[in-house]
Amino acid sequence: MKRLLVTGGCGFIGSNFVRLALQQLPDCRLVNLDKLTYAGNHENLKDIANDPRYRFVKGDITDGTLLEKLFAEEQIDTVIHFAAESHVDRSITGPAEFIQTNIVGTFTLLEAARKYWLADNKDSSQCRFLHVSTDEVYGSLGDTGYFTEETPYDPRSPYSSSKASSDHLVNAYFHTYGLPILMTNCSNNYGPYHFPEKLIPLILNNALNGKDLPVYGDGKNVRDWLYVVDHCEAILTVVLNGTIGETYNVGGNNEKQNIEIVTTICDLLDQKVGLLPDGEARRTLIRYVTDRPGHDRRYAIDASKIKKELGWSPAVTFEEGILKTVDWYLDNPEWISAVLDGSYQNYYEEMYGNR
Ligand SMILES: NC(=O)c1ccc[n+]([C@@H]2O[C@H](COP(=O)([O-])OP(=O)(O)OC[C@H]3O[C@@H](n4cnc5c(N)ncnc54)[C@H](O)[C@@H]3O)[C@@H](O)[C@H]2O)c1
Repeated sequence: MKRLLVTGGCGFIGSNFVRLALQQLPDCRLVNLDKLTYAGNHENLKDIANDPRYRFVKGDITDGTLLEKLFAEEQIDTVIHFAAESHVDRSITGPAEFIQTNIVGTFTLLEAARKYWLADNKDSSQCRFLHVSTDEVYGSLGDTGYFTEETPYDPRSPYSSSKASSDHLVNAYFHTYGLPILMTNCSNNYGPYHFPEKLIPLILNNALNGKDLPVYGDGKNVRDWLYVVDHCEAILTVVLNGTIGETYNVGGNNEKQNIEIVTTICDLLDQKVGLLPDGEARRTLIRYVTDRPGHDRRYAIDASKIKKELGWSPAVTFEEGILKTVDWYLDNPEWISAVLDGSYQNYYEEMYGNR
């Protein structure tokens, strides 16, 4: 029986992962530690909140005392570390939280795992610490080429530098202390429960409501898009079968320019809910805005290692995934309005009181 500590399980990818792990690991115990920042929404997990295998703890990964207590109390043998500040634009206007959570938080979590797993006479052979990271640590590509696991790090934003720093710490704990770490560096995710500050849900919501669709620069920055459930499957695969100390790149083989993403969403919404009230197509809402400072031009992932060694490859094409995503947002208007009016932040207190 696996005893998992998932950090950041109320965020976008974390909540999709918690649901998948409970489905696929019938015997597991799963503790979700989340600070519930603006990006954390416990309502994302309301369908599994009463599962007897699940426990939610509201807390901060920089709180070493709490972590030590949780490891001991729950006899944690597996950590899946999602908790992070994750939005590049916010890292430009306010980098301090990124340093605190992404670097200091990861360090504190590593220390707690080291103290609990590598204590005298403990058998840590079944323990795993999986650090969930991003392809942004590799910097920016030109028109050709792919990031492999050997690509040198070259982060450009406070977000990617803080993730790069945490990746180095995780690797250092393997080489220095023998902590049984694994790492995944993944491309851009999209899908259900995505906070509407990120490109796809932002555009979806604005396009639905006839608002302007801001596109950075010339709209030709390229990202590789992966459906979030595919990413979660990759993480489960790595934690169950990956080789300790190894990094696995995870990607969708779906390179798209930002403008292609925006026009695809516009066209899908025009088909599904009809044109705008004035009879115009949603593409007319597109507005090019001043580019993000240090905006990386192109990311593209070579995910052949995880395919060859662990047999994982994405199951959902971009065409299927974007349709599922648009349908999910259309089917869940209450979720999006609770996020937009801020009432989602009351959900936890309403459900659990002040504990
Ligand atoms: N979204 C992507 O496309 C993508 C791609 C590759 C890697 N990643 C990585 O995956 C992870 C999850 O990303 P996401 O998009 O789901 O992020 P998110 O912003 O949606 O969720 C982050 C979660 O972490 C929690 N959190 C933040 N600070 C915390 C702290 N100090 N203590 C405890 N919990 C805290 C938040 O409350 C939230 O629930 C991150 O580490 C991110 O770097 C994301």
